[in-house]
Amino acid sequence: MGIIKSHDITLYGGNDAYQIILRPLSDEHLPYLYKWNSDPEVLYWTEGDDVGSYPPEVVQEIYGGISQNNLCFLVEVNGRAIGDCWLQKMNLPNVREMYADSTDVRRIDMMIGEKNYWGKGIGTLFIGMLVKYAFECEQVDILHCFCEDYNIRSRRVWEKNGFTLIFKEEIPQPHKGKLQYHWKLTKDEYDEHRFAHNDAICSPPKTICREA
Ligand SMILES: CC(C)(COP(=O)(O)OP(=O)(O)OC[C@H]1O[C@@H](n2cnc3c(N)ncnc32)[C@H](O)[C@@H]1OP(=O)(O)O)[C@@H](O)C(=O)NCCC(=O)NCCS
Repeated sequence: MGIIKSHDITLYGGNDAYQIILRPLSDEHLPYLYKWNSDPEVLYWTEGDDVGSYPPEVVQEIYGGISQNNLCFLVEVNGRAIGDCWLQKMNLPNVREMYADSTDVRRIDMMIGEKNYWGKGIGTLFIGMLVKYAFECEQVDILHCFCEDYNIRSRRVWEKNGFTLIFKEEIPQPHKGKLQYHWKLTKDEYDEHRFAHNDAICSPPKTICREA
């Protein structure tokens, strides 16, 4: 039986230097997930708790579980698999309570597992693709995302994609981070952000493709 529940959505984007494809994550990508999730330096940034490494069975649990009701993508840059990202229904009750029941609230999680690809603008680009897909194709109302205070690259990715820091939540100590940052982007704010960046709002979403 398969572990990761896949889907049929592929997103295309990037710039002159980095051709980015977000592919449906599937079991064939598990070797990458095992590698990235056993790298302490990567997990330092993705996990609030101190986790040195996740064994394969835990990786299967994490990705097998999350993919049942959410969209998981492999991030491919110039033909190379470098990370993964998720568009997930809001799973935290305290955040869910902040919005009306009828509001479609999602979160995005991201990881570049190949460390030499950090800090090159790639995270900002592929999160932009996923944000676009969320608002324009999935009709999401609000994206509510997170990073801890020590993760400046993650913080910049949210900022550069138009998210607003709406509050900082104290994290019970001792813990690596002192504050959990909550970032929000609504559909209206997304549209405004696109105008501000001269991204013609009526143009077809060229980066998006749902395969037959
Ligand atoms: C978080 C992550 C997806 C960001 O993607 P990325 O491609 O590395 O980020 P980008 O290059 O698009 O942007 C990084 C920004 O942080 C800035 N930055 C990095 N280190 C910094 C520092 N010490 N001080 C100030 N700014 C810093 C960069 O200058 C850049 O901002 P700029 O474009 O305004 O100059 C990627 O780094 C990653 O996967 N890291 C490990 C896992 C992780 O942290 N996941 C997120 C958990 S919340």
